[in-house]
Amino acid sequence: MDGDTGMTTRSISQTVTVTWDFPVTFTHGLFAPVNRVLVDTLCRLNEPRRHKALVFIDGHVASKRAELSAEVSAYFAAHAEKIELAMEPQVVPGGEAVKNNFTLVECFMRLMLERHMDRQSFIIIVGGGAVMDAVGLAAALVHRGLRQVRVPTTVLGQNDAGVGVKNGVNFLGGKNAVGTFAPPFAVLNDFEFLLTLPQRDWLCGVAEAWKVAIIRDRQFFDWLSDNAVKFPARDAAAMEQLVYRCAEEHLEHIRTNGDPFEYGRARPLDFGHWSAHKLELMSKFSVSHGEAVAFGVLLDSCYAREQGWISREDYATIERGLRASGFPLWHEEALMRDSAGHLEIFAGIRDFREHLGGELCVTFPRGIGARFEMHEIDLPMMELCLKELRETR
Ligand SMILES: NC(=O)c1ccc[n+]([C@@H]2O[C@H](COP(=O)([O-])OP(=O)(O)OC[C@H]3O[C@@H](n4cnc5c(N)ncnc54)[C@H](O)[C@@H]3O)[C@@H](O)[C@H]2O)c1
Ligand SMILES: [Zn+2]
Repeated sequence: MDGDTGMTTRSISQTVTVTWDFPVTFTHGLFAPVNRVLVDTLCRLNEPRRHKALVFIDGHVASKRAELSAEVSAYFAAHAEKIELAMEPQVVPGGEAVKNNFTLVECFMRLMLERHMDRQSFIIIVGGGAVMDAVGLAAALVHRGLRQVRVPTTVLGQNDAGVGVKNGVNFLGGKNAVGTFAPPFAVLNDFEFLLTLPQRDWLCGVAEAWKVAIIRDRQFFDWLSDNAVKFPARDAAAMEQLVYRCAEEHLEHIRTNGDPFEYGRARPLDFGHWSAHKLELMSKFSVSHGEAVAFGVLLDSCYAREQGWISREDYATIERGLRASGFPLWHEEALMRDSAGHLEIFAGIRDFREHLGGELCVTFPRGIGARFEMHEIDLPMMELCLKELRETR
C-alpha cells in the first residue's frame, strides 16, 4: 500500500521491438527513365496505390545540373502508372545555411502538409548532408514521420550522413542541437552526382573513410593506403569503391553495435571528432569538416602511438596516407590559447563530455581495425602530440 492513500503501486513492464529495414542501392543515372531503381524502390512494398512523392533538390546541385528538375519530372511522367509528383521539384538552399534557419524547416513542413503528403507518401531528398538533415527533420515531424528516400549528392552524404538514421538542424548556436532519429525508407546513391563536387567537398568524405578504416577494418585501411593518391586526383573508380566500402562499414556498424539511436555513451564513429568539431569552430569554419577530421584522426592516432596502442609503423602509414589523400595536416588555430593561457582546443574534450551526458568516452584505435573507449585524456601528452603535428606539418 502507498502510505495512507489506499492506492497500491503496480507497474506493467513493457518491451517493444521495432525492426527497420531499408535498402541502400548504388546506381548510375538514377533519373534516366530506363533506370527502374527509383520506381521499384517506391513500389517495393507492393501496395495497391499510385505513390505520391515530393522532391527537394539542393540548390548547388540544381545549379550544376540545370536540367535536373526537368529530368525528375520526365522520370515520373515515364512511370506515371505507378508514381506521381505532388508538385514540381522544390529547389532549397544548399550547404550549412539550410540548417541555420529554422523557418526553412517550417516552410518544408508547410509544403508537405499543403500538398497533403500522408504517412505513405514519399519525400525524396536530393542533396548534401545538410539538406538531407534539414528536409529529413521536416519529413520526420510531419504526421510523425513521412517516408523518406535519400539521394545523397556528396561523398560524405553517400558514405556516411546519408546512410545513417538521424537528422537535425543547428539551433540557438548549437550544431545539430535539434533533430530526431528517423531511419530512411531507402537510400539511393548515384555516383554521377559526385562528379560536380568542388574539390574540398569531394575530399571531405575521404577523411571519414580513414576514420572508419582505422577503428574497424585493417583490409580497408590497407586499400586506402595503397590508393590514397588517387582521391585528390579525382580517380572516379577509386572514389566509387571508397564510397561503397565506407557506406558498408557505416551500415554494418549501425546494424551490429546494438545502439543505433545512441542511447549509450560510446560513439566509435566519432573517433577523431572531439578536436575536429572544435577546430572547425575555432577556424570559423575556414577549416572544412573533412580537413578537421583528417587532423583529428591524426592527432588521436599520434596519442594512441604514444600510449603504445598502435605501432610506429601504423602511425607513419596513417600520416602518409592522409597527406597523400590531399589533406593539410596542420592548422595554426590548433595552438590558440584562451586568456587564461589554456589551449582552446582542449575545450573540445569538455564539449564532447557534456554532449555525452557527463562521462567522457573517447574512442581510440587499438592496433589497426580495432578500437576501445577511454574515459580520460592525458592533456600534457596530447599537447606533445599537437606540437609534433606542428613540427611535421
Ligand atoms: N545525419 C547524420 O547522420 C550526419 C552525419 C554526418 C554529417 N551530417 C551533417 O551533414 C552535413 C555535411 O554534409 P556534406 O559534407 O554533404 O556537406 P553539405 O551538405 O554542406 O554539402 C557541401 C556543399 O556541396 C554542395 N553540393 C552538394 N552536392 C553537390 C554536388 N553534387 N555538386 C556540387 N555541389 C554540391 C552543397 O550545396 C554544399 O554547398 C553537416 O551539416 C553535418 O552535420 C549528418
Ligand atoms: Zn565527421
